[in-house]
Amino acid sequence: MSNETLTVRHNATGKEVEYPLLKGSLGADTADMRSLNKDLGCFTYDPGFIATASCKSKITYIDGDKGILLYRGYPIEQLAENCEFTEVAYLLMNGELPDQTQLRDFNEEISDRATIHESLRKFFDGFHYDAHPMAMLVGVVGSLSAFYHSDLNIKDPDSRRICAARLLGKMPTIAAASYRHSVGRPFVYPRMDLSYCENFLNMMFSRSSQNYIDQNHYIDPNLVKALNLLFILHADHEQNASTSTVRMAGSTGANPYACVAAGIAALWGPAHGGANEAVLNMLAQIGSVENVPKYIAKAKDHNDPFRLMGFGHRVYKNFDPRATIIRKTCYEVLERTHTNDPLFELALALEEFALKDDYFIEKKLYPNVDFYSGIIYKALHIPVDMFTVMFAIARTAGWVAHWLEMMEETATPISRPRQLYVGPPRRDFVAIVDRQPFVKSI
Ligand code: ACO
Repeated sequence: MSNETLTVRHNATGKEVEYPLLKGSLGADTADMRSLNKDLGCFTYDPGFIATASCKSKITYIDGDKGILLYRGYPIEQLAENCEFTEVAYLLMNGELPDQTQLRDFNEEISDRATIHESLRKFFDGFHYDAHPMAMLVGVVGSLSAFYHSDLNIKDPDSRRICAARLLGKMPTIAAASYRHSVGRPFVYPRMDLSYCENFLNMMFSRSSQNYIDQNHYIDPNLVKALNLLFILHADHEQNASTSTVRMAGSTGANPYACVAAGIAALWGPAHGGANEAVLNMLAQIGSVENVPKYIAKAKDHNDPFRLMGFGHRVYKNFDPRATIIRKTCYEVLERTHTNDPLFELALALEEFALKDDYFIEKKLYPNVDFYSGIIYKALHIPVDMFTVMFAIARTAGWVAHWLEMMEETATPISRPRQLYVGPPRRDFVAIVDRQPFVKSI
């Protein structure tokens, strides 16, 4: 065995075992300790997977200390500057950037798959008008599995590719339909003559009397560019909670549409994709710049549940490169839309105040991708409860890329973590007549 190993010593027995250190193409070495239980009779305890690599992946690389994010090796800044979202989705799914013909064919396929079955459209009628759009998205994307199950062969690469393209194509249609249902407006069908982002905006905002985008009424291309940029920045982020959920569900061989619905559910929480909605609600709660010190104090108080939403990240401990790009885009979008948004001024003041505070400096808490994304969505007239849905549209590219990568492996083990059991030891059954009333301790 090479000296690139990690030795683990069981101090009670004195037994030592060497584990190989696996080398990635970038980043920290990873000790392969899969045989630990067989070797030493114990497991590792790592709730939240703080120090555990759950898979090998070639898709995305993050260096949290240096603020680096690469998709298939390309820096996020370069992709954000030069690409359209579907080009990045193609890159994530296939490993290389497409040439012009490949991109045209890919765009055509995605547009072609954007329409949803009329019966699926009727599912929306079952939701209350005030259902949260994320609730509708989870339900309707999960329902795709009822439409595409019998003809799906997850062992066949071509069938998998079609499934991935279908999810990318249909996600904006389902997302826009969720919004239209919540405001009581008729569903707008997807159009093949529009780009991915234009088509989404058209499905969101067209009126029965007028298309949102047509020859007479054309949206400022810079706003489409801003949406395209947000989608690229949210497209993937290696083994985050929602992607790991898709992988975990996928590891059982489950229907991929259902796996992606599980990913959407994981994304919804405020600690993950729900943060963009939570940031705007938080800014509204803070109200004005004078209140910033009071809320910073609340965020630092461990007895107060208030946290600074859009701040902190499990991986980035220096800066989130996506937040830097988004902050710049915020200025541009607000200028183009002639929006004087006091919440942006408030967000800037909050960031400035927090970044000078010892608590945030010591804990390395910086604005993350979601601190400013909501300000841009708001300027594009996207309602606040649709913000996480926007994230889900973009992250679909990452979810399907990871699902495809996992399915290409010859033997993917089912994801099955172990646990540290802390419940009662073995005890004998007591008949109901002999039991003492149960009082739950708080
Ligand atoms: N406000 C105040 N204190 C914070 C914050 C915050 N936003 N984030 C972390 N801390 C504190 C914690 O209380 C903890 O303090 P302690 O060490 O004294 O106990 C310390 O910083 C470390 O925080 P953890 O929660 O242990 O860090 P973790 O890596 O587990 O969590 C997370 C990261 C979930 C993003 C967290 O920073 C958070 O809740 N942020 C706010 C929600 C948010 O913006 N989520 C979006 C993340 S990006 C994304 O998913 C797209």
